[in-house]
Amino acid sequence: MRIAIIGTGYVGLVSGACFSEFGIDVTCIDVDVEKINDLQIGKIPIYEPGLEDLVDKNVSAQRLHFTNNLGEAVSEADAVFIAVGTPSRRGDGHADLSYVFAAAKEIANAMKGYTVVVNKSTVPVGTGREVERIIRSERPDANFDVISNPEFLREGSAIEDFMRPDRVVIGVETERAQELMNDLYRPLHLIQTPILFTKLETAELVKYATNAFLATKITFINEVADLCEKVGANVHDIAKGMGLDGRIGNKFLHAGPGYGGSCFPKDTLAMVRTAESAGVNLKIVEAVVDANNNRKKDMAKRVIKACGGSVAGKTITLLGVTFKPNTDDMRDSPSLDIIPMLNEEGAVIRAYDPAGMDEAKHLLKDVIWCEDTYEALEGADALVIVTEWNEFRSLNFDRIKKILKGSVVVDLRNIYDPKTMTEAGFQYSSIGRPLDGKRFLSRREAE
Ligand code: NAD
Ligand code: UGA
Repeated sequence: MRIAIIGTGYVGLVSGACFSEFGIDVTCIDVDVEKINDLQIGKIPIYEPGLEDLVDKNVSAQRLHFTNNLGEAVSEADAVFIAVGTPSRRGDGHADLSYVFAAAKEIANAMKGYTVVVNKSTVPVGTGREVERIIRSERPDANFDVISNPEFLREGSAIEDFMRPDRVVIGVETERAQELMNDLYRPLHLIQTPILFTKLETAELVKYATNAFLATKITFINEVADLCEKVGANVHDIAKGMGLDGRIGNKFLHAGPGYGGSCFPKDTLAMVRTAESAGVNLKIVEAVVDANNNRKKDMAKRVIKACGGSVAGKTITLLGVTFKPNTDDMRDSPSLDIIPMLNEEGAVIRAYDPAGMDEAKHLLKDVIWCEDTYEALEGADALVIVTEWNEFRSLNFDRIKKILKGSVVVDLRNIYDPKTMTEAGFQYSSIGRPLDGKRFLSRREAE
């Protein structure tokens, strides 16, 4: 089988590499000439663990190809995936579907023979029907089906998520297209991955409902963390206590600086807008969007408070600027709120991130970018941990004490123990874990 993927970003490139690993002939297409040129010489445009090796392997096996020539790749494909961006539309927060619709037009004009057009981009309910209409109006004679196959991978663990997903959701309404999708995902049948076949609209909405629910879970625990700080409870233990209830589950209950990234912020907002257009009030998701926006701003206030009420003239070190570890993606990262607010209050910012600095340099102007953690800490009054990269999890605090001018440590990811840090002489604060919080004892510890 031969497939073409339009859009060679985080989703298109990972999906392309993984499908080719399944043995399928894949051509990844992009309008970005530089990106395709780089890929053709083995240069991977994004930071994603394991991706370079996987791309390398499948390019060598001649199953994975890269091109700017959409027409040729689409005309030869049995299935064409749309994996272009669907960012927030400026001004109103609806998903910007212009890239999806442009891709649909191009597919219409290039496809030959029966073709399955698969929408992998995250799109509001109804978009699949519109893609169908666009293709039909461009090419009334065309033989095709449009289906929805939303993607659930996470950046940083994208390959594992694609290769071993919790489920695959496919909105499809003809047997022929369903059979083709079954063939495509056959390797996942072997590991008994649930494959859910639904209507087009349902598949589109499963994606938004999932992201909105996960964003709600995070926002819920973040608010509980705020309460913990007021009443002397420990949010980490609360998350554990809640998570042990099988109906709740222990994932996505890690309190932090607010969710960021290329998806939760834009998808929660787009879902609210879709609902408004449908005359439905999604009060919970709306509250989540507001609470998360405020939370990111509150993180800067938290740093200012930890620094004694003012950061004017102080030097603050930020470790991590990406929205999560193991990615170079800066989209909607909490650091994009925190750093400008601290700058505005007169702080000098020194920062280090293992993979995000190239991108961050375009987005954040008043920052002294450093080569590593210890360089970033030189002469600083305070250290703020914004992203929980592994290399920040076991810092040498004896060394840090000698470099850091002050003793303030603000840990927005709860990677250190409050008691240990305080005993080591730091003015340590974290999220929802006041020093007098009780520690959860596992049954074995209690005995
Ligand atoms: P991205 O911005 O990284 O990549 C999109 C790519 O599409 C870009 O390289 C762009 O140049 C290319 N493109 C745009 N129009 C094109 C056209 N007409 N022809 C060829 N190429 C074109 O985006 P992404 O993060 O991969 O997200 C893609 C979609 O997948 C979005 O809808 C997103 O919400 C969804 N999604 C993303 C993730 C993630 O982790 N990033 C996970 C699940 C779903
Ligand atoms: C998220 C979803 O997890 C994927 O399933 C989905 O496919 C993707 O969005 C998408 O639609 O694009 P991603 O944004 O890559 O994936 O990363 P997550 O691990 O979900 O983290 C998102 C944000 O939430 C990060 O800022 C992270 O730090 C934060 N988070 C996550 C928390 O604050 N606490 C948690 O417990 C989990």
